[in-house]
Amino acid sequence: MDVLVTGATGRLGRRLVPHLQDAGHRVRQMSRRGTGPGGVRGDLVTGRDLGHALAGAEVVVHAASDPRGNPWEVDVAGTRRLVEAVDRDRLRHLVYVSIVGIDRVPLSYYRAKYAAEQVLLASRLPITLVRITQFHEFADELLGTARRGPLLPVPMGWRVQPVDVDDAAAHLAATASAEPDGGVVEFGGPEEHSVGDLARAWAAVRAPTARVLSTPFPGRLGAALRDGAALPARGGRGRRTWAEYLAGSPSPG
Ligand SMILES: NC(=O)c1ccc[n+]([C@@H]2O[C@H](COP(=O)([O-])OP(=O)(O)OC[C@H]3O[C@@H](n4cnc5c(N)ncnc54)[C@H](OP(=O)(O)O)[C@@H]3O)[C@@H](O)[C@H]2O)c1
Repeated sequence: MDVLVTGATGRLGRRLVPHLQDAGHRVRQMSRRGTGPGGVRGDLVTGRDLGHALAGAEVVVHAASDPRGNPWEVDVAGTRRLVEAVDRDRLRHLVYVSIVGIDRVPLSYYRAKYAAEQVLLASRLPITLVRITQFHEFADELLGTARRGPLLPVPMGWRVQPVDVDDAAAHLAATASAEPDGGVVEFGGPEEHSVGDLARAWAAVRAPTARVLSTPFPGRLGAALRDGAALPARGGRGRRTWAEYLAGSPSPG
């Protein structure tokens, strides 16, 4: 099929494209610059070149996002622009990459992702919304940034279930090739961890002299993450564990 991946230059998109190609699809890779083989230009904020990028796409995997910038403009309004620009006669499946817990964890970025899901649910397009847990690389980066010299402070009791980005990419490629679900599905890593355990395993490999310090994190955000709001309740599981990731991957920083 003719597949368009938005966010193809991102952490996930770069891993997703080869899985889709291996499944025999013709893949176009959308980003703002549209460079590289198979690259097409499209900007979700200005709408520029979106119609051209989406023309003829039978499957769209929508992985573009702006977590650190303006997700209300890129993720929410941008998804609305995407819905308006898709080729409704050709489209067989639109897969949206979302995050487990966006309906329960009180973070502004998560609220924007939830609003983007609502845009898609109201679109009457053939959709599957795939909520995924945090990628190993993302957790790796966060822990690297959290370290303060000999100390690694982490929130006490937060529960997470990180997943390997390649397992998530393989799952998304299989989902994109299947029939649309019409609603929300989940995908997570193989094991639940406390953030403290995650950090101790990280420190053993990345910063052996650092000492993990679990600190109380009051408020609604802390309570939600202690209650398991970021854990998948159902759906598929990746295979690669956090320990296997740490043993086999260089530091992303
Ligand atoms: N990171 C995680 O742990 C995690 C976990 C679960 C789910 N997710 C979800 O997975 C998806 C991909 O995450 P990621 O970590 O791969 O993100 P990322 O590395 O930050 O990549 C973001 C992508 O979005 C594109 N983009 C940004 N602004 C754009 C715009 N105005 N128009 C078109 N494209 C734009 C970027 O392309 P250019 O800058 O090249 O234009 C880039 O390809 C996101 O929806 C995220 O919410 C992430």
